[in-house]
Amino acid sequence: MTYSYADLADEIPAHGIRPVWIRDSMSWDSADAELILEAASYASRPPGRALDVGTGAGRLLPTMTRLVENVVALDPDGERVAKARQTCGRTDDALIFVTADANSYVMKEPFDLVVCCHVLQHVSRRDRAVLARSLRRFTSAGGVLVMMFSSAIEERHFASSLPRGGKIESTVIDPREFDALAMQVDADAKQRLPVWHARIGDVVSLTTDAGFHVLESFEYRRFDFSLRRHEGEPAEIASASDACIIAVPAHRAA
Ligand SMILES: C[S@@+](CC[C@H](N)C(=O)[O-])C[C@H]1O[C@@H](n2cnc3c(N)ncnc32)[C@H](O)[C@@H]1O
Repeated sequence: MTYSYADLADEIPAHGIRPVWIRDSMSWDSADAELILEAASYASRPPGRALDVGTGAGRLLPTMTRLVENVVALDPDGERVAKARQTCGRTDDALIFVTADANSYVMKEPFDLVVCCHVLQHVSRRDRAVLARSLRRFTSAGGVLVMMFSSAIEERHFASSLPRGGKIESTVIDPREFDALAMQVDADAKQRLPVWHARIGDVVSLTTDAGFHVLESFEYRRFDFSLRRHEGEPAEIASASDACIIAVPAHRAA
């Protein structure tokens, strides 16, 4: 079965996002772009090759192509890849688009900068560790990984969101339902976006177990609770934030 991302038009991140910034960043787009610039400074040389894992609509590609000469952008959803191509408005050998799942992508050579922005939270529990190992395989000896993900302010939990003509219906779900949605076991699953709101420590362990040394891990964006409640947003979604991990291959830390 081919994978298709439930929030094709990115309605969910665009909906009512009025974050309380933890880092001094201005918008949904610029925060993640700034984190990419920060991570790149940890590569052992100026990055020459970068990989955007789960590029989506290519939101981060303008930042990445300004910073790095050769960029590969991959996503398992062909429609998302088509949007990413539009975002960049160019096709040349320095920017390559691939329709593939991270775990099945066979690269030619590793990358100095690997970006995995808001992908981990949509992957089943079983595939998380596989994804982390793929990210390690993609990262060159002197390279760096930057991973952004949904985190939980209080307890870790799973949620599912359904974009409905401008409104988002969100509910808390149990781990098994999360897995079924993430693995898209049936056609209905493709309508709803499953989200894992992780503890940062869980993602640090996952990354470390995959062979990375974590340099930084922090929460960088928290949503404005009062505004979201006012808009009728369920509390389980309001009690969410975004976090980031910057990591290098473990041997570099030795
Ligand atoms: C929330 S979007 C993030 C898009 C982009 N990284 C950004 O920050 O704007 C998540 C993307 O991850 C992709 N995705 C889901 N599972 C994936 C996997 N196993 N490997 C690579 N990408 C995946 C989805 O198709 C979707 O486009």
